Amino acid sequence: MTDLLEQLHIHEEIISELSAKKLNEASNADASEVPEFRTPNSELLHDSIVALHLNKNLLLQGPTGSGKTRLAEMLASLFSQRIHTVNCSVDLDAEAMLGFKTLSERDGKSVIDFVPGPVVTAMKQGDLLYIDEINMAKPETLPIINSVLDYRRTLINPFTGETLQASEGFKVIASMNIGYIGTLPLNEALKNRFVTIDVPYLQGDRLLQLLKAQSRLRDEQNLHAFVQLSSDLLEQVRTGQISEDAASIRALLDACDLSAFIPPLRAIQRAIADKLEDEREQSLVMNVAETLFGKQ
Ligand SMILES: Nc1ncnc2c1ncn2[C@@H]1O[C@H](COP(=O)(O)OP(=O)(O)OP(=O)(O)O)[C@@H](O)[C@H]1O
Ligand SMILES: [Mg+2]
Repeated sequence: MTDLLEQLHIHEEIISELSAKKLNEASNADASEVPEFRTPNSELLHDSIVALHLNKNLLLQGPTGSGKTRLAEMLASLFSQRIHTVNCSVDLDAEAMLGFKTLSERDGKSVIDFVPGPVVTAMKQGDLLYIDEINMAKPETLPIINSVLDYRRTLINPFTGETLQASEGFKVIASMNIGYIGTLPLNEALKNRFVTIDVPYLQGDRLLQLLKAQSRLRDEQNLHAFVQLSSDLLEQVRTGQISEDAASIRALLDACDLSAFIPPLRAIQRAIADKLEDEREQSLVMNVAETLFGKQ
């Protein structure tokens, strides 16, 4: 880990903090498994680490399958923290974030217990709170945690009346896809509470290394062709010919995995093209693929 931090020229104050935390949790069995996020540029990872060290809330902004969740997992691991996730949707409510009351039996008596949700648990334990797809929540839902997201780091739990002050180490990362169906513009006051990091799709040699590490595909020539496919698809995205998810690294990994067992064009059809709604986009993807893999 220290090697990576030194490569990124991370400030020594931060390196020593992170190393001390790692030593502390040396007995933790998961400690060795650091989920690896391959950063498209070193500033992205560097600045994310600095912002989290300063206890700023991070907003990871980027298209689907660009590695936002992976990055959050890696950061949690670097800071030796557990992750508690809030999955946002229009149905997200206070209970899903904070927790709920339940009736249970103790010593023959009925008692009301409070089952803490991810926000309360992360605050109490000084862990990392991950708010996934933050712009899928209804605008009126998230302001409940505005005081958690600013310097106060406090919450008056409406279900228990308890005032909570977050334990030391408590951090927040949120992710969002921009402009997707079902997403809403983030309320300004909410957005204002975050430092924003753009997470684009990985390209070039770094993508090649990712495909080698994370997919089943071993054929060098095909691996290179998939990297080129990704770049060509991204170009089509830039010119507005196809929608952004066609260039998703998640879908690309699926296509690589499949193509270890079936012809690449069929793999691309199933993992990338068929998911697009528009037939014209589907055939554009297949045309690009055919120029790289030939008609099979
Ligand atoms: N830069 C990257 N480094 C490592 N893995 C990556 C990277 N980009 C994509 N991946 C891989 O692609 C897949 C999707 O990544 P992830 O789930 O983190 O994307 P996401 O941005 O959170 O997507 P969504 O917005 O749909 O939730 C994972 O298998 C992940 O390992
Ligand atoms: Mg995600």
